[in-house]
Amino acid sequence: MHFNAPAPTSEDIRAIVTPLTALEGPLLPMLHALQQEFGFIPQGAVPVLADLLNLGRAEVHGVISFYHDFRDAPAGRHVLKICRAEACQSMGCDALAQATLDKLGIGWHETTRDGAVTVEPVYCLGMCACAPAVMLDGQVVARVDTARMQHLLDEVGA
Ligand code: FES
Repeated sequence: MHFNAPAPTSEDIRAIVTPLTALEGPLLPMLHALQQEFGFIPQGAVPVLADLLNLGRAEVHGVISFYHDFRDAPAGRHVLKICRAEACQSMGCDALAQATLDKLGIGWHETTRDGAVTVEPVYCLGMCACAPAVMLDGQVVARVDTARMQHLLDEVGA
């Protein structure tokens, strides 16, 4: 779904999740299906899921916020995930991340105004020996310093 597209309606949401109600433990598959379809979990999904699964809204919210991969707004054209786990922290990922966010003028989970890039934290990309690591549109990039980060941002036009 495009960054500025209208929000999905409850009917859109129901059409996607209703066929999954028969699954055992359907909440996560439903959330994945919604994220797959829209690129994020629409606000309106919480009451629909709570109603369908006979759960409290807070419970559904809790699950969505527990998993970092579920986002609550459409992502930009590119998604940059910056590792914030221990090995990357010891190699300066916090400063790198802050400088990147400052440069883009956004916070974690936010998208640049032009919709070019969304920045999200991630907790270990399996590249601890080559920290700090990031993932740009699903591609892991290791040993990222300021220059390499700039190169990545240039690549996505941010
Ligand atoms: S801690 Fe960052 S890749 Fe493992």
